[in-house]
Amino acid sequence: MKQFHVFRLDTVNHCLWRGEERVSLAPKAFDVLRYLVEHADRLVTQDEILNALWPETYVNPEVIKKYILGIRKALGDPRDKPEFIETFPRRGYQFIAPVGEVISGALAGRGINAARKMVGREGAMAELDDYLGQALNSLRQVVFITGEAGIGKTTLVDAFHQAVANRPNLRIIRGQCVEGFGGKEAYYPVLEAIGHWVREAGGGAVVQTLAKQAPTWLIQFPSLIKADQREALQKEIHGATRERMVREICEALETLTAQEPLVLVLEDLHWVDPSTLDFLSAVARRRGPAKLLMIGTYRPADLILSKSPLKALKQDLVLHDLAREVCLERLGEPDVAEYLEIHFANGDFPRGFANLIYRHSGGNALFLVNILLDMVKRGLIAQADGAWKLKVTLEDVEPRVPETLDQLIEAQFQQLSAEEQRILRSASVAGERFSVWAISTTAELEPETIEDMCEGLAERLQFIKAAGINALANGEISAHYEFRHSLYREVLYRRLSEVTRAKLHLQLAQRLQAFCDPCEQEQSTELALHFEAGRNFEEAIRYLIVAAKNAARKFAYRDSIEILGHALELISQVSASHRRELKTQVLVQIGDIQYAVGNMDDSAQAYEKAAALAAEASLGAAQVTALIRLAHPMGLIDVDRAVEAAEQADQISASLNDPILRARTQILAPCARLYYRSWRSRDAELYTAAKETIDRLTGGLYPEMHYAHLHPLQGRYREALRIAEDGILKISETSNTVAYLLTLGAKAVALMHLGRLGEALHLLRAAIERAEKNGNDPWVLKIREAWLHTVALDFTGAQELCEAMIRSNSGYPTGQPKAIGWFAAGNAALLEGRHDEALQDFRRVIDEDVTPKFFLHWYWRMQARFGVVKVLLASEKIEDARKETGETLDAALSTDDPGLQVLAWEVSARLAVAEKDAKAGEKSIRNGTALLERFELPTAAWRLDGTAWEFYQQAKNEKAAETHLKRAESCILKIANSFAPDEPLRATFLAADSVRRILEERVPARVPRHQKLRRGTTC
Ligand SMILES: Nc1ncnc2c1ncn2[C@@H]1O[C@H](COP(=O)(O)OP(=O)(O)OP(=O)(O)O)[C@@H](O)[C@H]1O
Ligand SMILES: [Mg+2]
Repeated sequence: MKQFHVFRLDTVNHCLWRGEERVSLAPKAFDVLRYLVEHADRLVTQDEILNALWPETYVNPEVIKKYILGIRKALGDPRDKPEFIETFPRRGYQFIAPVGEVISGALAGRGINAARKMVGREGAMAELDDYLGQALNSLRQVVFITGEAGIGKTTLVDAFHQAVANRPNLRIIRGQCVEGFGGKEAYYPVLEAIGHWVREAGGGAVVQTLAKQAPTWLIQFPSLIKADQREALQKEIHGATRERMVREICEALETLTAQEPLVLVLEDLHWVDPSTLDFLSAVARRRGPAKLLMIGTYRPADLILSKSPLKALKQDLVLHDLAREVCLERLGEPDVAEYLEIHFANGDFPRGFANLIYRHSGGNALFLVNILLDMVKRGLIAQADGAWKLKVTLEDVEPRVPETLDQLIEAQFQQLSAEEQRILRSASVAGERFSVWAISTTAELEPETIEDMCEGLAERLQFIKAAGINALANGEISAHYEFRHSLYREVLYRRLSEVTRAKLHLQLAQRLQAFCDPCEQEQSTELALHFEAGRNFEEAIRYLIVAAKNAARKFAYRDSIEILGHALELISQVSASHRRELKTQVLVQIGDIQYAVGNMDDSAQAYEKAAALAAEASLGAAQVTALIRLAHPMGLIDVDRAVEAAEQADQISASLNDPILRARTQILAPCARLYYRSWRSRDAELYTAAKETIDRLTGGLYPEMHYAHLHPLQGRYREALRIAEDGILKISETSNTVAYLLTLGAKAVALMHLGRLGEALHLLRAAIERAEKNGNDPWVLKIREAWLHTVALDFTGAQELCEAMIRSNSGYPTGQPKAIGWFAAGNAALLEGRHDEALQDFRRVIDEDVTPKFFLHWYWRMQARFGVVKVLLASEKIEDARKETGETLDAALSTDDPGLQVLAWEVSARLAVAEKDAKAGEKSIRNGTALLERFELPTAAWRLDGTAWEFYQQAKNEKAAETHLKRAESCILKIANSFAPDEPLRATFLAADSVRRILEERVPARVPRHQKLRRGTTC
């Protein structure tokens, strides 16, 4: 720690101390000061500073000037007669004050007396010291410091901070809850504390640990992530939940505090946001070792007022011995006397003076400090001959002391100039900490004038203090100030009339709006709050919608829904003409968030409401948007309604003059019919044409996800794969979990058709594991996994997966897992010769009364029909088989799906083998083979080639038989080799009768071929 005059520069914790007081300094300003102090013996040029502190970015040298100005202000260093920083015009700066080193441990040795200016609180300091001791022994500690406003909570934390700051390796990080918008920003104080830490650590161990263990947190600090890391990180965190975010930071903190201790201070928790509370609760409840001391401060009375759940949480934690409370009482008379002694060197006060101050302040430290300051200002206490004296009698003092702190603050305020009052009034609206830039319109003064006046107030210790020069979100640099105490702000704010308040809030909101273009900035919550207080409810709701999106980005979905709930509350205050439009927007947003996290019923409900409301208000476009969205959750819970909604949207859009929206509905309606009704080439043409239109209108920007699902049904597997892969990258940037899982599912299906079963399985398993880790329901992926098992001929495995899905009671309809389960059961029964059972299972899948419609239900029904033919052939019911084959073939040929068609030709060839009908067999094989020449389809190819081999043997055409055998064999090996060598599914696939009999042909025949052919029933 460096020391100069009364200042100490704590380079470990990045703070500057003036005596016992922490001096606010922006992080970059701190870095500039540190650089100058560390090179105190020489002149430092602007270029050198720029190169050292902004190595890879261009920064205007003017910025340095601003920071130097800020540092001077913080140090109280006059420019004309500098004591600390000397400017050499056009050359640079030099730190001129003598710099010493504070010997490590010196402060620690001073223990609880470190905070010289703090009186009393020995007990509290000893308690904190004890808790730190336990934390150092890896017993995590959570401590709440509580007490009324101004009692001295922050002072105690500061004193403790100072007293322990020099302990080796001890890191102290602090986060501050902020009144108003802060309580609505998820993890506000935690992100602040960790933000300082990671930036100080300069990408060191903390960043590495976050990258490894808490990617959901690292992603919140975009500047720390390298471009090449971002993609992997997005993929890793996709679909994360609040639970995961909390768990990750707890685990990361445990790793980071395994060796090196950490004190995490969260101030003013009476304004805490719900996500930080989750964090707090989790830290307290986890039992693993951690050298962690978490200190939270709050005012109990404010907690009751705001009905914060922190009250119950604290009680519960304390009850279970998971947290402690240090409750600060008011100062006693001896403490007041000590205060006088410390602060008024050689004070010569009459007896009873301490008692008088004690009585008037009631022992509230803030009141006490203010009473005395006020007396000094008014000359009642003054210095004479090196000693402080009371200039009037005690009796004269009595009536001059205001009765409450509010009155005292009020009286002080009245003594200020009209401009100063105007500035402070504006500032009280802007918040605890404010920038000159922000209030320059509301205070109706030039920024320079505001800055001079703020400087004057700060110097006279009135109301505010300097908070450094900081860059604003719009890139401007502006001086910041903060209220010396939140109570000052509260008093000033309270005394504004409602009309003035609303006016100032509105002006401020309009000024701050410059930050929020294009509406995706963090400030949206703050803006929403100012607009609400400024009674512009429409704008407030618009920014609440943005704020809800931001919360979702932090996986704080509950906060997001809460924010939108608040927006709904405000709707009644919006002018009637906009009311329904805004409400529709909010409801759609609620639907989006519920859909994104998998709450299908809630999502559908919100969209239904939005659509109905828009219809009532004749808001065509809004109604269409809500209906388009509605089709998505309905596709998973009620497919008839999904088709209906899509078609309704299509009809309504026809009368609107919005070509893009029109094209979207023209894509969706046929897609919905193709997914949920049956395949019609006409629908495929319709959506392809609409897709071309939208590409033309938007330059190809419209997401192509329907293609990823529908291309495989037209044999375009590679395109489907490419689109799904692109889609995964795109969707990764949003937090729409369901859309993400669906796209992963589409990718797996494309891989599966291409015979890359092993890759598909790997993808599905990894994604299922990730989703489960995140607490998401990977239902859509499990369906695909079961599908994959059927393709790999593991029918028992597929059945088990489906049964587990049905048992899990996930809230999704069970039609789809039941259908796949029966399909698998039918195949298993067929293999074992239980033909009646097999028939029954396949018929269940086909019967729409037993198996209601689901996504691509017709595809599965068709597969089950192939099953029926196989059973009929195996049980030698040739007549029935012929009839069924004919119908099935027609049905398959009515689709565009080459996979289904090849399989249909395959069962048709089987029938020909059974009937010894050479012509029909030849035709079926020729047609099937022609399709295989156009489409890469190994999963269907090996089956057709296997049957063709059988057919040509029967026809004694050894050459053709051999050709088909080789082809079948190569497809089988491709599929088998796509699995990892030790993957059990590979063995199951290779062991299946139908596969084995083909592969065994490679071995020189030991058994006559015709005998082998009869072995087992093929599937
Ligand atoms: N023990 C003390 N000794 C000397 N001065 C004190 C003491 N406690 C508080 N003060 C003075 O009182 C002022 C108010 O105290 P502080 O800000 O710590 O209160 P607080 O409890 O944190 O209030 P809030 O709830 O509003 O955050 C401080 O600026 C400090 O100067
Ligand atoms: Mg405080």
